[in-house]
Amino acid sequence: ILDTKVDSVLKLMTLEEKVGQLNQYNGFWDITGPTPKEGQAAKKYEDLKKGLVGSMLNVKGVKDVKALQKIAVEQTRLGIPLLFGFDVIHGYKTISPIPLAEAASWDLEAIKKSAAIASEEAASVGLNWTFAPMVDISRDARWGRVMEGAGEDTFLGSKIAVARIQGFQGEDLAATNTILACAKHFAGYAFAESGRDYNTVDISETVLQNTIFPPFKAAVDAGVRTFMNSFNELNGIPATGNAYLQREVLKRDWKFNGFVVSDWGSINEMIPHGYAKDSKHAAEIAINAGSDMDMESSAYVEHLVALVKEGKVKESDIDDSTRRILKVKFELGLFDDPYKYCDENRELATVGKQEFQEGVLDVAKKSIVLLKNEKEVLPLKKSGQKIALIGALANDKTSPLGSWRIAADDNSAVSVLEGLQKYSGNQLTYAKGADVAEGRTQFIWETKINTTDKSGFAEAIAVAKQADVVVMVLGEHGLQSGEGRSRADLGLPGVQQELLEAIYKVNPNVVLVLNNGRPLAIPWADENIPAIVEGWHLGTQSGNAIAQVLYGDYNPSGKLPMTFPRNVGQVPIYYNYKNTGRPIMNEPESVFWSHYIDEKNTPLYPFGHGLSYSKFEYSNLQLSSNAFAKNGKIEVSVTIKNIGKVTGKEVVQLYIRDLIGSITRPVKELKGFEMIELQPNEAKKVVFSIDEKTIEYFTANKKWEAEAGDFKVFIGGSSVTKLEGDFQYSN
Ligand code: IFM
Repeated sequence: ILDTKVDSVLKLMTLEEKVGQLNQYNGFWDITGPTPKEGQAAKKYEDLKKGLVGSMLNVKGVKDVKALQKIAVEQTRLGIPLLFGFDVIHGYKTISPIPLAEAASWDLEAIKKSAAIASEEAASVGLNWTFAPMVDISRDARWGRVMEGAGEDTFLGSKIAVARIQGFQGEDLAATNTILACAKHFAGYAFAESGRDYNTVDISETVLQNTIFPPFKAAVDAGVRTFMNSFNELNGIPATGNAYLQREVLKRDWKFNGFVVSDWGSINEMIPHGYAKDSKHAAEIAINAGSDMDMESSAYVEHLVALVKEGKVKESDIDDSTRRILKVKFELGLFDDPYKYCDENRELATVGKQEFQEGVLDVAKKSIVLLKNEKEVLPLKKSGQKIALIGALANDKTSPLGSWRIAADDNSAVSVLEGLQKYSGNQLTYAKGADVAEGRTQFIWETKINTTDKSGFAEAIAVAKQADVVVMVLGEHGLQSGEGRSRADLGLPGVQQELLEAIYKVNPNVVLVLNNGRPLAIPWADENIPAIVEGWHLGTQSGNAIAQVLYGDYNPSGKLPMTFPRNVGQVPIYYNYKNTGRPIMNEPESVFWSHYIDEKNTPLYPFGHGLSYSKFEYSNLQLSSNAFAKNGKIEVSVTIKNIGKVTGKEVVQLYIRDLIGSITRPVKELKGFEMIELQPNEAKKVVFSIDEKTIEYFTANKKWEAEAGDFKVFIGGSSVTKLEGDFQYSN
């Protein structure tokens, strides 16, 4: 029925109008103000009235959305409604943790709920499309956008991709509290050489298939309605103009029937890439490669009609792209009611509502990772203590919102200072110590990453000296990670390392709370500081979440979704590396093995690592059988006991190793996880199933299959496991 409806509209459309549907413009003038008379704004406004715009981005708020929709519906010949897209990456105004942090919760329900909150809030302000989730697997912490994904692992990343899509799109896309999701960036964007954003990507088909594609495929299977391609070139061909990616893999092999939007201006960026000679050529390449909608290049709207007339682009391809976009508009119910997201009363009642605050606080607590806890420094005692709180980030109400929080107001997050102040049994004294960043912070362009000002050190040292415990909140400002914010150094920015060492000298009883959007290399802190808490950029409720964890009202349960290096020189570093012909040797007899002469191979904190105030003991790994054949399966079980003093949650992780492959296999691969909760002294048996699906991969035969052979299985509370078993598979 939907297809018939789509065709009935398509039949009425001129070629120009079809091309118009493929055009997306950025919000361009004060919509409810005077009509623009000249320049780009006037041109875009005229295009809108002529039905030459299919979607807008960065227009938000019921008043503005309604005003634009009214033009599309009432002033264009066919009255086709617009889609309104926005980067609702981790919340609209009520901000949840950055996606990398949320991934650390390993809690798919909490992640789904957080996306559903974002969706409901965004839908209430007129939006019907988010450019999320980013499902790029990222192994390079220098790349600023690692904050926006689920980290380094394909298995975890695929599960989280699905949870986020289900959260955004819900059960019913036509409901007024759900919006379209967008799996991005297709593909390879996170593998930019040297971690520099937008840089060249040159990777093998094996990496593409086994590491990068699976979360995208999972997104298609979960019913994601849109995809975004990416800025990078992939093996010599820009992703935007890459027919292999878009036409062969996505649309043909995976049967994706939604539509692909280009990234911002990425069609025209094929010119500097050295792949298109001008904008017209770029439009030809992009549409022929299967890129359906042009975000802000104007290349389609300006050139596609001529390209069809010249025979360089088939009208049937324009029809296909238009059909895909119209179909999604029908699915949203926009043809029945173009103003369905435009209810001012709903907007007022929804934005920032209390229920959302509770939801984002819940996921924020779950995202925190306890990296180290010695000498029982944590949890903090609730009374009789003098606590020194140090660090500019501790008193910052904007930084915790992190990157990509465009609609959130500055100063709208709860700071750590405010969070700790709620625990009034202790004496709390705050000192800034040193700034993290200088300059304007709404957009990073004018923000200096480093500050050298040490004038606040003396006060901070004095405050630390008289304290029982010092809590230091250090790391990156929320805008020091994100798009265009690659870093060549992964240490604490500015003079924060010096501050940490100066404070430690006068009072070693330090709890370091990190705020950051990427793994940091902090070996000195790991060696010296007794307690380290990964507090990321946790969004609106950040300070409350951190305070509750520091005081033990929430027992930390997060696990790292990305490896923390000791040294930036180890990057890219990830747990599922290949063994090499000269693997790690415990007692090397020569230098001729795969290592550094000035650094260890091992990470500072491995993937999957995260402590708790409870202590978990793993024992008794058992296999139901040591072999299985095609269509069969085996079970592997383990017993986990809480030998600590408090109730806690643990993410039990299952890894396998395929010992010999037609293509060399990683030393370990995550294949399952389960979160359990245990009271003190309680033990539970956790059982995982292993079948062909668990062991299959993209083999030398260029297909997904399970190869016969020997395997190892490992279970533990991180990717560094103690328990293991063996099994065989035959086909
Ligand atoms: O969605 C983003 C994308 O991830 C990066 N470029 C701009 C787009 C729209 O804002």
